[in-house]
Amino acid sequence: MWVHTFFFVILLVVVSGARRDVASSDTVYTFPDEFKLGAATASYQIEGAWDENGKGPNIWDTLTHEHPDYVVDGATGDIADDSYHLYKEDVKILKELGAQVYRFSISWARVLPEGHDNIVNQDGIDYYNNLINELLANGIEPMVTMYHWDLPQALQDLGGWPNLVLAKYSENYARVLFKNFGDRVKLWLTFNEPLTFMDGYASEIGMAPSINTPGIGDYLAAHTVIHAHARIYHLYDQEFRAEQGGKVGISLNINWCEPATNSAEDRASCENYQQFNLGLYAHPIFTEEGDYPAVLKDRVSRNSADEGYTDSRLPQFTAEEVEYIRGTHDFLGINFYTALLGKSGVEGYEPSRYRDSGVILTQDAAWPISASSWLKVVPWGFRKELNWIKNEYNNPPVFITENGFSDYGGLNDTGRVHYYTEHLKEMLKAIHEDGVNVIGYTAWSLMDNFEWLRGYSEKFGIYAVDFEDPARPRIPKESAKVLAEIMNTRKIPERFRD
Ligand code: BGC
Repeated sequence: MWVHTFFFVILLVVVSGARRDVASSDTVYTFPDEFKLGAATASYQIEGAWDENGKGPNIWDTLTHEHPDYVVDGATGDIADDSYHLYKEDVKILKELGAQVYRFSISWARVLPEGHDNIVNQDGIDYYNNLINELLANGIEPMVTMYHWDLPQALQDLGGWPNLVLAKYSENYARVLFKNFGDRVKLWLTFNEPLTFMDGYASEIGMAPSINTPGIGDYLAAHTVIHAHARIYHLYDQEFRAEQGGKVGISLNINWCEPATNSAEDRASCENYQQFNLGLYAHPIFTEEGDYPAVLKDRVSRNSADEGYTDSRLPQFTAEEVEYIRGTHDFLGINFYTALLGKSGVEGYEPSRYRDSGVILTQDAAWPISASSWLKVVPWGFRKELNWIKNEYNNPPVFITENGFSDYGGLNDTGRVHYYTEHLKEMLKAIHEDGVNVIGYTAWSLMDNFEWLRGYSEKFGIYAVDFEDPARPRIPKESAKVLAEIMNTRKIPERFRD
Protein backbone atom coordinates (compact mmCIF):
# COMPACT_ATOMS: atom_id res chain seq x y z
CA MET A 1 0.00 0.00 0.00
CA TRP A 2 2.69 2.47 1.02
CA VAL A 3 4.31 1.82 -2.36
CA HIS A 4 1.15 3.01 -4.09
CA THR A 5 0.89 6.05 -1.88
CA PHE A 6 4.53 6.84 -2.52
CA PHE A 7 4.04 6.73 -6.29
CA PHE A 8 0.84 8.73 -6.03
CA VAL A 9 2.64 11.46 -4.11
CA ILE A 10 5.50 11.48 -6.60
CA LEU A 11 2.97 11.74 -9.44
CA LEU A 12 1.26 14.69 -7.77
CA VAL A 13 4.59 16.44 -7.30
CA VAL A 14 5.55 15.90 -10.93
CA VAL A 15 2.17 17.01 -12.27
CA SER A 16 1.96 20.14 -10.13
CA GLY A 17 5.59 20.98 -10.99
CA ALA A 18 4.78 20.64 -14.66
CA ARG A 19 1.72 22.85 -14.18
CA ARG A 20 3.84 25.46 -12.53
CA ASP A 21 6.22 25.36 -15.49
CA VAL A 22 3.39 25.80 -17.96
CA ALA A 23 1.96 28.67 -15.92
CA SER A 24 5.28 30.49 -15.64
CA SER A 25 6.21 29.96 -19.26
CA ASP A 26 2.76 31.22 -20.24
CA THR A 27 3.28 34.34 -18.12
CA VAL A 28 6.42 35.32 -19.94
CA TYR A 29 4.43 35.35 -23.20
CA THR A 30 1.54 37.35 -21.71
CA PHE A 31 1.09 41.13 -21.56
CA PRO A 32 0.44 42.54 -18.09
CA ASP A 33 -3.18 43.64 -17.53
CA GLU A 34 -2.49 47.37 -17.59
CA PHE A 35 -0.14 47.20 -20.58
CA LYS A 36 -1.32 49.25 -23.59
CA LEU A 37 -0.89 48.00 -27.16
CA GLY A 38 -1.39 49.96 -30.36
CA ALA A 39 0.20 51.54 -33.41
CA ALA A 40 1.83 54.84 -34.37
CA THR A 41 2.09 57.39 -37.19
CA ALA A 42 3.19 61.03 -37.64
CA SER A 43 1.49 64.02 -39.27
CA TYR A 44 3.81 64.82 -42.18
CA GLN A 45 4.19 61.14 -43.04
CA ILE A 46 0.45 60.47 -43.44
CA GLU A 47 -1.78 63.56 -43.54
CA GLY A 48 -1.22 65.13 -46.96
CA ALA A 49 -3.41 68.23 -47.51
CA TRP A 50 -0.21 70.17 -47.19
CA ASP A 51 -1.72 73.55 -48.04
CA GLU A 52 -5.43 72.95 -47.46
CA ASN A 53 -7.77 75.00 -45.29
CA GLY A 54 -5.32 77.37 -43.70
CA LYS A 55 -2.36 75.10 -42.98
CA GLY A 56 0.96 76.95 -43.12
CA PRO A 57 4.11 75.53 -44.75
CA ASN A 58 6.59 73.57 -42.67
CA ILE A 59 10.23 72.65 -43.16
CA TRP A 60 9.37 69.32 -44.82
CA ASP A 61 7.09 71.06 -47.33
CA THR A 62 10.03 73.32 -48.10
CA LEU A 63 12.60 70.54 -48.35
CA THR A 64 10.51 68.28 -50.58
CA HIS A 65 9.45 71.15 -52.85
CA GLU A 66 12.80 72.89 -53.11
CA HIS A 67 15.09 69.86 -53.05
CA PRO A 68 13.31 66.96 -54.76
CA ASP A 69 16.81 65.62 -55.43
CA TYR A 70 17.27 64.96 -51.68
CA VAL A 71 14.34 62.53 -51.57
CA VAL A 72 14.10 59.14 -53.30
CA ASP A 73 12.00 59.56 -56.48
CA GLY A 74 11.46 63.23 -55.61
CA ALA A 75 8.59 62.14 -53.38
CA THR A 76 6.68 64.58 -51.16
CA GLY A 77 4.14 64.37 -48.34
CA ASP A 78 1.71 66.58 -50.30
CA ILE A 79 -0.88 63.80 -50.34
CA ALA A 80 0.84 60.86 -48.57
CA ASP A 81 -1.87 58.58 -47.07
CA ASP A 82 -4.38 61.42 -47.34
CA SER A 83 -5.28 60.92 -43.68
CA TYR A 84 -6.52 64.49 -43.53
CA HIS A 85 -9.49 63.26 -45.56
CA LEU A 86 -9.37 59.56 -44.68
CA TYR A 87 -8.88 59.62 -40.90
CA LYS A 88 -12.02 57.54 -40.44
CA GLU A 89 -10.34 54.79 -42.46
CA ASP A 90 -7.37 54.98 -40.10
CA VAL A 91 -9.62 54.56 -37.09
CA LYS A 92 -11.40 51.68 -38.81
CA ILE A 93 -8.17 49.73 -39.28
CA LEU A 94 -7.04 50.52 -35.73
CA LYS A 95 -10.29 49.04 -34.52
CA GLU A 96 -9.86 46.00 -36.76
CA LEU A 97 -6.36 45.60 -35.30
CA GLY A 98 -7.68 45.69 -31.75
CA ALA A 99 -5.48 48.66 -30.85
CA GLN A 100 -6.08 50.17 -27.41
CA VAL A 101 -4.01 53.25 -28.19
CA TYR A 102 -3.16 55.27 -31.31
CA ARG A 103 -0.05 57.43 -31.28
CA PHE A 104 -0.25 60.23 -33.86
CA SER A 105 1.31 63.66 -34.10
CA ILE A 106 -0.11 67.13 -34.54
CA SER A 107 1.13 69.31 -37.36
CA TRP A 108 2.15 72.56 -35.68
CA ALA A 109 1.61 74.55 -38.90
CA ARG A 110 -1.89 73.10 -39.38
CA VAL A 111 -2.87 74.48 -35.98
CA LEU A 112 -0.69 77.62 -35.92
CA PRO A 113 0.09 78.42 -39.59
CA GLU A 114 2.73 81.01 -38.68
CA GLY A 115 4.08 79.05 -35.73
CA HIS A 116 2.89 81.66 -33.20
CA ASP A 117 -0.27 81.49 -31.14
CA ASN A 118 -1.72 84.78 -32.38
CA ILE A 119 -3.36 83.02 -35.36
CA VAL A 120 -5.10 79.73 -34.58
CA ASN A 121 -6.40 77.84 -37.60
CA GLN A 122 -9.85 76.61 -36.58
CA ASP A 123 -9.88 74.05 -39.39
CA GLY A 124 -6.76 72.43 -37.90
CA ILE A 125 -8.36 72.32 -34.45
CA ASP A 126 -11.48 70.77 -36.00
CA TYR A 127 -9.46 68.13 -37.82
CA TYR A 128 -7.76 66.89 -34.66
CA ASN A 129 -10.98 67.13 -32.67
CA ASN A 130 -12.68 64.93 -35.25
CA LEU A 131 -9.85 62.41 -35.16
CA ILE A 132 -9.76 62.31 -31.35
CA ASN A 133 -13.54 61.97 -31.11
CA GLU A 134 -13.61 59.22 -33.71
CA LEU A 135 -10.93 57.32 -31.77
CA LEU A 136 -12.75 57.66 -28.48
CA ALA A 137 -16.05 56.63 -30.06
CA ASN A 138 -14.28 53.43 -31.08
CA GLY A 139 -12.74 52.81 -27.69
CA ILE A 140 -9.19 53.78 -28.75
CA GLU A 141 -7.09 56.06 -26.58
CA PRO A 142 -5.31 58.95 -28.32
CA MET A 143 -1.60 59.46 -27.57
CA VAL A 144 -0.39 62.74 -29.04
CA THR A 145 3.10 63.71 -30.12
CA MET A 146 3.29 67.50 -30.21
CA TYR A 147 6.27 67.63 -32.53
CA HIS A 148 7.32 65.00 -35.04
CA TRP A 149 9.80 67.00 -37.13
CA ASP A 150 7.49 69.34 -39.11
CA LEU A 151 8.51 72.78 -37.83
CA PRO A 152 6.50 75.71 -39.23
CA GLN A 153 8.67 77.36 -41.87
CA ALA A 154 8.05 80.73 -40.21
CA LEU A 155 9.97 79.51 -37.15
CA GLN A 156 12.79 78.10 -39.25
CA ASP A 157 13.04 81.54 -40.80
CA LEU A 158 14.01 82.73 -37.31
CA GLY A 159 16.80 80.15 -37.20
CA GLY A 160 14.80 77.10 -36.14
CA TRP A 161 15.76 74.94 -33.16
CA PRO A 162 19.22 76.45 -32.58
CA ASN A 163 17.40 79.65 -31.59
CA LEU A 164 16.53 79.36 -27.89
CA VAL A 165 13.46 81.55 -28.39
CA LEU A 166 11.75 78.44 -29.80
CA ALA A 167 11.52 77.02 -26.27
CA LYS A 168 9.06 79.78 -25.40
CA TYR A 169 7.18 79.39 -28.70
CA SER A 170 6.90 75.63 -28.09
CA GLU A 171 5.30 76.33 -24.72
CA ASN A 172 2.76 78.65 -26.37
CA TYR A 173 1.99 75.99 -28.97
CA ALA A 174 1.59 73.35 -26.24
CA ARG A 175 -0.85 75.61 -24.38
CA VAL A 176 -3.09 75.69 -27.47
CA LEU A 177 -3.00 71.88 -27.61
CA PHE A 178 -3.70 71.34 -23.89
CA LYS A 179 -6.56 73.87 -24.03
CA ASN A 180 -8.22 72.38 -27.07
CA PHE A 181 -7.56 68.66 -26.66
CA GLY A 182 -6.47 68.04 -23.06
CA ASP A 183 -9.99 67.24 -21.88
CA ARG A 184 -9.76 64.03 -23.95
CA VAL A 185 -6.02 63.45 -24.53
CA LYS A 186 -4.28 62.00 -21.46
CA LEU A 187 -1.01 60.81 -22.98
CA TRP A 188 1.30 63.49 -24.33
CA LEU A 189 4.74 63.35 -25.90
CA THR A 190 6.47 66.69 -26.25
CA PHE A 191 8.99 65.65 -28.92
CA ASN A 192 9.74 62.72 -31.16
CA GLU A 193 13.39 61.74 -31.55
CA PRO A 194 15.18 65.03 -31.06
CA LEU A 195 18.37 63.02 -31.61
CA THR A 196 17.28 62.50 -35.22
CA PHE A 197 15.86 65.92 -36.03
CA MET A 198 18.86 67.74 -34.54
CA ASP A 199 20.70 66.21 -37.50
CA GLY A 200 18.73 68.62 -39.68
CA TYR A 201 21.31 71.14 -38.40
CA ALA A 202 24.28 68.85 -39.01
CA SER A 203 24.30 68.16 -42.71
CA GLU A 204 23.62 69.95 -45.96
CA ILE A 205 21.90 67.05 -47.65
CA GLY A 206 19.88 65.53 -44.89
CA MET A 207 16.81 65.85 -42.77
CA ALA A 208 14.99 69.20 -42.92
CA PRO A 209 16.01 71.98 -42.71
CA SER A 210 19.35 70.66 -44.08
CA ILE A 211 21.64 73.17 -42.46
CA ASN A 212 25.26 72.22 -42.35
CA THR A 213 26.50 73.16 -38.86
CA PRO A 214 27.60 69.83 -37.34
CA GLY A 215 28.95 69.83 -33.81
CA ILE A 216 27.49 73.30 -33.20
CA GLY A 217 23.98 73.88 -34.60
CA ASP A 218 22.87 70.37 -33.63
CA TYR A 219 23.95 70.86 -29.98
CA LEU A 220 22.21 74.24 -29.93
CA ALA A 221 19.05 72.58 -31.27
CA ALA A 222 19.22 69.88 -28.59
CA HIS A 223 19.64 72.55 -25.91
CA THR A 224 16.52 74.41 -27.06
CA VAL A 225 14.50 71.20 -27.24
CA ILE A 226 15.40 70.25 -23.65
CA HIS A 227 14.37 73.72 -22.46
CA ALA A 228 11.15 73.47 -24.49
CA HIS A 229 10.31 70.07 -23.06
CA ALA A 230 10.78 71.30 -19.49
CA ARG A 231 8.68 74.40 -20.10
CA ILE A 232 5.84 72.32 -21.53
CA TYR A 233 5.98 69.95 -18.57
CA HIS A 234 5.85 72.83 -16.07
CA LEU A 235 3.07 74.48 -18.06
CA TYR A 236 1.03 71.29 -17.73
CA ASP A 237 1.70 71.20 -13.99
CA GLN A 238 0.76 74.82 -13.47
CA GLU A 239 -2.25 75.25 -15.73
CA PHE A 240 -3.70 71.87 -16.70
CA ARG A 241 -2.69 68.84 -14.66
CA ALA A 242 -5.12 69.29 -11.78
CA GLU A 243 -8.09 69.45 -14.10
CA GLN A 244 -6.95 67.15 -16.93
CA GLY A 245 -4.95 64.52 -15.04
CA GLY A 246 -2.88 63.32 -18.00
CA LYS A 247 0.76 62.31 -18.39
CA VAL A 248 3.57 64.08 -20.21
CA GLY A 249 6.65 62.32 -21.61
CA ILE A 250 9.13 62.56 -24.47
CA SER A 251 10.04 59.99 -27.17
CA LEU A 252 13.76 59.32 -27.40
CA ASN A 253 15.37 56.94 -29.87
CA ILE A 254 18.30 54.73 -29.05
CA ASN A 255 20.12 51.78 -30.60
CA TRP A 256 21.74 49.13 -28.49
CA CYS A 257 25.54 49.39 -28.65
CA GLU A 258 27.22 46.01 -28.31
CA PRO A 259 30.96 46.26 -27.56
CA ALA A 260 32.86 44.89 -30.58
CA THR A 261 35.15 43.00 -28.17
CA ASN A 262 35.05 42.46 -24.45
CA SER A 263 37.93 44.90 -23.90
CA ALA A 264 37.45 47.63 -21.29
CA GLU A 265 38.01 50.24 -24.03
CA ASP A 266 35.28 48.92 -26.31
CA ARG A 267 32.87 48.58 -23.41
CA ALA A 268 33.62 52.17 -22.38
CA SER A 269 33.07 53.37 -25.94
CA CYS A 270 29.58 51.86 -25.92
CA GLU A 271 28.88 53.66 -22.65
CA ASN A 272 29.96 56.88 -24.39
CA TYR A 273 27.55 56.00 -27.16
CA GLN A 274 24.65 55.63 -24.73
CA GLN A 275 25.45 58.94 -23.03
CA PHE A 276 25.96 60.88 -26.26
CA ASN A 277 22.77 59.55 -27.81
CA LEU A 278 20.26 58.74 -25.07
CA GLY A 279 21.93 60.54 -22.15
CA LEU A 280 22.14 63.79 -24.11
CA TYR A 281 18.37 64.17 -23.58
CA ALA A 282 17.56 61.69 -20.83
CA HIS A 283 20.28 62.65 -18.34
CA PRO A 284 19.05 66.25 -17.85
CA ILE A 285 15.44 65.08 -17.51
CA PHE A 286 15.49 61.60 -15.94
CA THR A 287 18.44 61.51 -13.51
CA GLU A 288 18.53 62.78 -9.93
CA GLU A 289 21.51 65.01 -10.62
CA GLY A 290 20.24 66.37 -13.94
CA ASP A 291 22.39 68.28 -16.47
CA TYR A 292 24.20 66.78 -19.46
CA PRO A 293 26.17 63.60 -18.78
CA ALA A 294 29.69 64.36 -17.46
CA VAL A 295 31.32 62.45 -20.31
CA LEU A 296 29.47 64.59 -22.86
CA LYS A 297 30.47 67.85 -21.20
CA ASP A 298 34.08 66.75 -20.77
CA ARG A 299 34.67 65.38 -24.23
CA VAL A 300 33.01 68.26 -26.11
CA SER A 301 34.75 70.92 -24.07
CA ARG A 302 38.14 69.18 -24.47
CA ASN A 303 37.68 68.79 -28.22
CA SER A 304 36.42 72.38 -28.55
CA ALA A 305 39.54 73.69 -26.78
CA ASP A 306 41.82 71.54 -28.96
CA GLU A 307 40.08 72.90 -32.04
CA GLY A 308 40.70 76.49 -30.90
CA TYR A 309 37.23 77.48 -29.69
CA THR A 310 37.09 79.73 -26.63
CA ASP A 311 33.83 78.13 -25.45
CA SER A 312 32.66 74.57 -25.55
CA ARG A 313 30.51 73.86 -28.60
CA LEU A 314 28.05 72.27 -26.15
CA PRO A 315 25.93 74.96 -24.46
CA GLN A 316 25.75 74.91 -20.67
CA PHE A 317 22.82 74.85 -18.29
CA THR A 318 22.91 77.16 -15.26
CA ALA A 319 22.34 75.58 -11.85
CA GLU A 320 18.77 76.92 -11.83
CA GLU A 321 18.13 75.48 -15.27
CA VAL A 322 19.41 72.07 -14.18
CA GLU A 323 16.89 72.20 -11.31
CA TYR A 324 14.07 73.37 -13.57
CA ILE A 325 14.65 70.58 -16.09
CA ARG A 326 15.33 67.53 -13.94
CA GLY A 327 12.27 65.51 -13.02
CA THR A 328 10.10 66.85 -15.85
CA HIS A 329 8.67 63.46 -16.80
CA ASP A 330 5.75 61.17 -16.12
CA PHE A 331 7.12 58.42 -18.37
CA LEU A 332 9.86 57.83 -20.92
CA GLY A 333 8.96 57.13 -24.55
CA ILE A 334 11.51 54.92 -26.32
CA ASN A 335 11.82 54.27 -30.05
CA PHE A 336 13.90 51.17 -30.60
CA TYR A 337 14.84 49.70 -33.97
CA THR A 338 18.32 48.22 -34.13
CA ALA A 339 21.80 47.71 -32.69
CA LEU A 340 25.38 48.71 -33.47
CA LEU A 341 28.83 47.40 -32.68
CA GLY A 342 30.98 49.88 -30.80
CA LYS A 343 34.78 50.06 -30.90
CA SER A 344 36.97 52.49 -29.08
CA GLY A 345 38.38 55.22 -31.35
CA VAL A 346 37.60 58.48 -33.05
CA GLU A 347 36.14 59.07 -36.50
CA GLY A 348 33.85 61.51 -38.29
CA TYR A 349 34.01 65.13 -39.42
CA GLU A 350 35.69 67.72 -37.26
CA PRO A 351 33.70 69.00 -35.52
CA SER A 352 30.77 66.62 -35.15
CA ARG A 353 28.84 64.88 -32.42
CA TYR A 354 29.95 61.52 -33.75
CA ARG A 355 33.61 62.54 -33.51
CA ASP A 356 33.06 63.97 -30.04
CA SER A 357 31.54 60.72 -28.82
CA GLY A 358 34.72 58.63 -29.14
CA VAL A 359 33.26 55.47 -30.57
CA ILE A 360 33.57 53.80 -33.95
CA LEU A 361 30.29 52.25 -34.99
CA THR A 362 29.69 49.35 -37.36
CA GLN A 363 27.14 46.58 -37.67
CA ASP A 364 27.62 42.85 -37.70
CA ALA A 365 27.36 41.45 -41.24
CA ALA A 366 25.62 38.41 -39.77
CA TRP A 367 22.66 40.44 -38.46
CA PRO A 368 19.57 40.01 -40.68
CA ILE A 369 18.83 43.02 -42.89
CA SER A 370 15.74 45.08 -43.74
CA ALA A 371 15.08 47.50 -46.61
CA SER A 372 16.74 50.32 -44.62
CA SER A 373 20.54 50.39 -44.65
CA TRP A 374 20.65 51.26 -40.93
CA LEU A 375 18.09 48.75 -39.69
CA LYS A 376 19.46 45.30 -38.86
CA VAL A 377 17.35 42.86 -36.88
CA VAL A 378 18.82 42.43 -33.38
CA PRO A 379 15.96 41.61 -30.98
CA TRP A 380 18.25 40.69 -28.04
CA GLY A 381 19.60 44.24 -28.19
CA PHE A 382 16.13 45.46 -27.25
CA ARG A 383 16.17 43.59 -23.94
CA LYS A 384 19.70 44.78 -23.20
CA GLU A 385 18.76 48.39 -23.93
CA LEU A 386 15.69 48.19 -21.70
CA ASN A 387 17.89 46.90 -18.88
CA TRP A 388 20.40 49.71 -19.45
CA ILE A 389 17.57 52.23 -19.14
CA LYS A 390 16.22 50.57 -16.01
CA ASN A 391 19.61 50.75 -14.31
CA GLU A 392 20.59 54.22 -15.49
CA TYR A 393 17.32 56.05 -14.82
CA ASN A 394 15.99 54.25 -11.77
CA ASN A 395 13.43 52.13 -13.59
CA PRO A 396 11.03 54.80 -14.89
CA PRO A 397 7.79 53.80 -16.63
CA VAL A 398 8.82 53.21 -20.27
CA PHE A 399 6.40 53.36 -23.18
CA ILE A 400 7.77 51.88 -26.40
CA THR A 401 6.49 54.54 -28.77
CA GLU A 402 8.10 52.99 -31.88
CA ASN A 403 9.51 49.67 -33.03
CA GLY A 404 9.23 48.30 -36.54
CA PHE A 405 10.73 46.88 -39.71
CA SER A 406 11.04 47.99 -43.34
CA ASP A 407 10.73 46.04 -46.57
CA TYR A 408 9.91 46.92 -50.17
CA GLY A 409 6.25 45.94 -50.03
CA GLY A 410 3.99 42.90 -50.33
CA LEU A 411 1.24 41.54 -48.12
CA ASN A 412 3.06 38.39 -47.06
CA ASP A 413 5.57 40.26 -44.89
CA THR A 414 7.21 37.39 -43.05
CA GLY A 415 10.27 39.50 -42.20
CA ARG A 416 8.06 41.98 -40.34
CA VAL A 417 6.13 39.20 -38.56
CA HIS A 418 9.44 37.77 -37.37
CA TYR A 419 10.66 41.23 -36.30
CA TYR A 420 7.57 42.00 -34.22
CA THR A 421 7.20 38.62 -32.56
CA GLU A 422 10.90 38.46 -31.64
CA HIS A 423 11.01 42.02 -30.29
CA LEU A 424 7.81 41.58 -28.32
CA LYS A 425 9.21 38.40 -26.76
CA GLU A 426 12.41 40.18 -25.73
CA MET A 427 10.35 43.03 -24.28
CA LEU A 428 8.17 40.59 -22.32
CA LYS A 429 11.31 38.92 -20.92
CA ALA A 430 12.57 42.34 -19.86
CA ILE A 431 9.26 42.93 -18.08
CA HIS A 432 8.72 39.54 -16.47
CA GLU A 433 12.27 38.32 -15.88
CA ASP A 434 14.26 41.54 -15.45
CA GLY A 435 11.61 43.75 -13.83
CA VAL A 436 11.82 46.55 -16.39
CA ASN A 437 8.80 48.84 -16.05
CA VAL A 438 7.48 48.84 -19.63
CA ILE A 439 3.89 50.06 -19.74
CA GLY A 440 2.95 50.21 -23.42
CA TYR A 441 3.93 49.59 -27.03
CA THR A 442 2.88 51.21 -30.31
CA ALA A 443 4.13 49.54 -33.49
CA TRP A 444 5.71 51.71 -36.19
CA SER A 445 3.78 52.00 -38.31
CA LEU A 446 0.05 51.60 -38.67
CA MET A 447 0.43 51.90 -42.45
CA ASP A 448 2.97 52.52 -45.21
CA ASN A 449 3.77 56.21 -45.36
CA PHE A 450 6.26 58.90 -46.40
CA GLU A 451 9.55 57.57 -45.05
CA TRP A 452 11.37 60.94 -45.02
CA LEU A 453 14.37 61.01 -47.37
CA ARG A 454 13.53 57.46 -48.51
CA GLY A 455 10.16 58.65 -49.83
CA TYR A 456 7.76 55.76 -50.43
CA SER A 457 10.52 53.28 -51.29
CA GLU A 458 10.91 51.75 -47.82
CA LYS A 459 7.70 50.45 -46.26
CA PHE A 460 7.16 50.28 -42.50
CA GLY A 461 3.39 49.73 -42.44
CA ILE A 462 1.49 46.77 -41.06
CA TYR A 463 -1.21 47.92 -43.49
CA ALA A 464 -0.24 48.38 -47.13
CA VAL A 465 -1.23 51.58 -48.92
CA ASP A 466 -1.30 51.90 -52.70
CA PHE A 467 0.10 55.37 -53.39
CA GLU A 468 -0.91 55.15 -57.06
CA ASP A 469 -4.57 54.80 -56.15
CA PRO A 470 -6.29 58.12 -55.31
CA ALA A 471 -8.50 56.28 -52.78
CA ARG A 472 -5.37 55.14 -50.89
CA PRO A 473 -6.92 51.82 -49.77
CA ARG A 474 -5.46 50.36 -46.55
CA ILE A 475 -4.94 46.59 -46.84
CA PRO A 476 -3.81 44.41 -43.89
CA LYS A 477 -0.51 42.62 -44.32
CA GLU A 478 0.23 39.31 -42.59
CA SER A 479 1.90 41.31 -39.77
CA ALA A 480 -1.34 43.20 -39.11
CA LYS A 481 -3.15 39.87 -38.73
CA VAL A 482 -0.53 38.53 -36.34
CA LEU A 483 -0.51 41.75 -34.31
CA ALA A 484 -4.31 41.67 -34.20
CA GLU A 485 -4.13 38.15 -32.80
CA ILE A 486 -1.58 39.35 -30.23
CA MET A 487 -3.62 42.41 -29.28
CA ASN A 488 -6.81 40.40 -28.94
CA THR A 489 -5.38 37.46 -26.98
CA ARG A 490 -2.79 39.63 -25.18
CA LYS A 491 -0.33 36.79 -25.62
CA ILE A 492 2.37 35.72 -28.03
CA PRO A 493 0.71 32.89 -30.01
CA GLU A 494 2.14 29.41 -29.31
CA ARG A 495 3.62 29.06 -32.80
CA PHE A 496 5.99 31.98 -32.20
CA ARG A 497 7.22 30.84 -28.79
CA ASP A 498 10.77 29.57 -28.21
C1 BGC B 1 10.81 58.07 -36.83
C2 BGC B 1 9.74 57.75 -37.85
C3 BGC B 1 10.37 56.96 -38.99
C4 BGC B 1 10.89 55.65 -38.45
C5 BGC B 1 11.55 54.75 -39.47
C6 BGC B 1 11.76 56.94 -36.57
O1 BGC B 1 13.04 57.44 -36.62
O2 BGC B 1 10.26 58.59 -35.67
O3 BGC B 1 9.20 58.95 -38.29
O4 BGC B 1 9.49 56.75 -40.04
O5 BGC B 1 11.83 55.88 -37.44
O6 BGC B 1 12.67 55.35 -40.04
